[in-house]
Amino acid sequence: MTTSGTSAQSDGRAYGRDAGTWDPELVEVGAGTPSGELLRRYWHPIATSAEATERPREVRILGEDLILFRDRSGTPGLLEPRCCHRGTTLYFGRVEDDGIRCPYHGWLFAPDGTCIDQPCEPDGGRNRARYRQPWYPVVEYHGLLFAYLGPADRQPVFPRYDIFDGFDAETEEIEIVDHFAFGGPSVAPCNWFQTHENVMDPYHVFILHVAISGPQFSPQLEIWPRIEWQRHDWGITSTQDRDLPDGTILHRVTEVRVPTVRVIATPTLTVLGKTNNLSWALPIDDTTTRVFAMLRKPKGAEAQGMAVYAGDKSWFDLTDEEHQYYPGDYEAQVGQGPITRHSTERLATSDRGVSLVRRQFKEQVRIVADGGDPVGVSFDEAAGPETVVAGNYIVGPDTDLDTIPLSDSLRR
Ligand code: FES
Ligand SMILES: [Fe+2]
Repeated sequence: MTTSGTSAQSDGRAYGRDAGTWDPELVEVGAGTPSGELLRRYWHPIATSAEATERPREVRILGEDLILFRDRSGTPGLLEPRCCHRGTTLYFGRVEDDGIRCPYHGWLFAPDGTCIDQPCEPDGGRNRARYRQPWYPVVEYHGLLFAYLGPADRQPVFPRYDIFDGFDAETEEIEIVDHFAFGGPSVAPCNWFQTHENVMDPYHVFILHVAISGPQFSPQLEIWPRIEWQRHDWGITSTQDRDLPDGTILHRVTEVRVPTVRVIATPTLTVLGKTNNLSWALPIDDTTTRVFAMLRKPKGAEAQGMAVYAGDKSWFDLTDEEHQYYPGDYEAQVGQGPITRHSTERLATSDRGVSLVRRQFKEQVRIVADGGDPVGVSFDEAAGPETVVAGNYIVGPDTDLDTIPLSDSLRR
């Protein structure tokens, strides 16, 4: 038997190596899979508000093909494409004031799937209340559309986050950042989990984004940090403390929340203190991922700083050769393959954050498989927003550490 490592029978050459396989509890997103059922207990961003229009759009979410539209009264709808009458697709449907009409025999479906007209049937369908086009609920929040693809009796209230609460449309604006990782295309041909766990891999910031290809973000990230991780009920955090030349400390906190939320303190350091943005990885299917980020800022303020490549270029300006010389998050994570193969990895000390994320996610997969409710869902309509802790905190000699999240690493 061969393995990917060296042994008495092998000197490590590639012949006969183990191709390896992935851990299905981390990567599968389809309905009926244990991890897919965990994902179906949460609201997911599925599109920008602007993408829902009177022209039906095909979308793929958690491996399910669906039709997204917005009726003429402004309500977004997310329906199964295959019409419940005789099966043609609503992709060719006509959007009307209160729903979408199937082009074949004209059945009209509201955004909640209710059949509200059957023009070929006596009296417009005396029995139409018996029919319902399969549908999913949609919520619109600050320029993004979110859907819940799980069982009706376990639908949680829509989660809010304190960094977006109290939004004042007079003086502030929300920017939707449609990029994979502060600079690449928003859709990547790889499994969602490999981009998600990357957020708890702070060592790569120093190597990939600085020593190899950078600085792609702030030059201050060149300073080697002291790194720690913390486990919470709701997710994992990492603190990275850097001694700055002026004697202060940059205390950088990043977080991931079960299942797909990532809160990355602005890597260009253009925002100090608590962060102003939050992002979600959307599993489109097992091998395709889209990332949505939401960012709050004063009206007219500069857009989010993006990674710079090859000194001054955007990701899209790079030649193929420059992508090799200046790789970033997209290259590193897509480079792990459509689905990374966990069985051949060699996790080391610096991968502790990745291990923590994986372990917590798998625990939640098993809780749902055993009939329980996972962390991070609430059924209390009156519950307040979730408290975000991520940020870039500058800590000086006079700073009250009680005001700094996860400041334990500074108290020594
Ligand atoms: S197939 Fe849709 S109305 Fe007949
Ligand atoms: Fe990165």
